[in-house]
Amino acid sequence: MSAVLKGLPQLAAMREADLDEVLAIERAVYTHPWTRGNFADALRSGYACRTWRADGTLVGYFVLMAAAGEAHLLNLSVGAAWQRRGHGSALLGEAMRSGRDLGARHIFLEVRPSNLAAQALYTRFGFRHIGVRRGYYPAHSGREDALVLTLAL
Ligand SMILES: CC(C)(COP(=O)(O)OP(=O)(O)OC[C@H]1O[C@@H](n2cnc3c(N)ncnc32)[C@H](O)[C@@H]1OP(=O)(O)O)[C@@H](O)C(=O)NCCC(=O)NCCS
Repeated sequence: MSAVLKGLPQLAAMREADLDEVLAIERAVYTHPWTRGNFADALRSGYACRTWRADGTLVGYFVLMAAAGEAHLLNLSVGAAWQRRGHGSALLGEAMRSGRDLGARHIFLEVRPSNLAAQALYTRFGFRHIGVRRGYYPAHSGREDALVLTLAL
């Protein structure tokens, strides 16, 4: 895959037809990736599922659930070849905008304590640590906790 994009990525609604490419990124960037069924359920549930594409190349995506004045960022991912170029920040900004547009006043997310890259991104945006969900994630041996972060929108 060439690591050069000709155009600026654009946000678009994720569709079933995107899922092969979404899963290719998902499986490359997570030790415990979402399944096709997880994405299909999110699409069917009407969550805000968005792709970030340039020149037909899928660069990243997010899945956001919004209800009752709260948004929950369920997935935010950038393809390995495109990381550290500002796409994660741009996508997080778009996810926050989507949350606001859907009437949310706060955004919440979970992150693995071992995921220092994502934590650094969220800290830069001003997210606060508000709790821990014990054993939330599957891990290589047993389970890993989740840090719960939030930011006012
Ligand atoms: C987390 C993720 C979305 C960040 O995407 P990205 O496109 O690399 O993000 P950006 O280029 O906008 O980086 C913004 C800042 O985040 C921090 N950051 C990102 N990657 C980092 C890394 N590998 N190590 C340390 N800090 C990192 C830095 O502060 C960075 O700013 P800088 O490049 O000016 O130093 C991306 O690494 C990813 O998809 N990871 C795998 C999936 C994942 O963990 N998602 C989050 C689940 S909670």
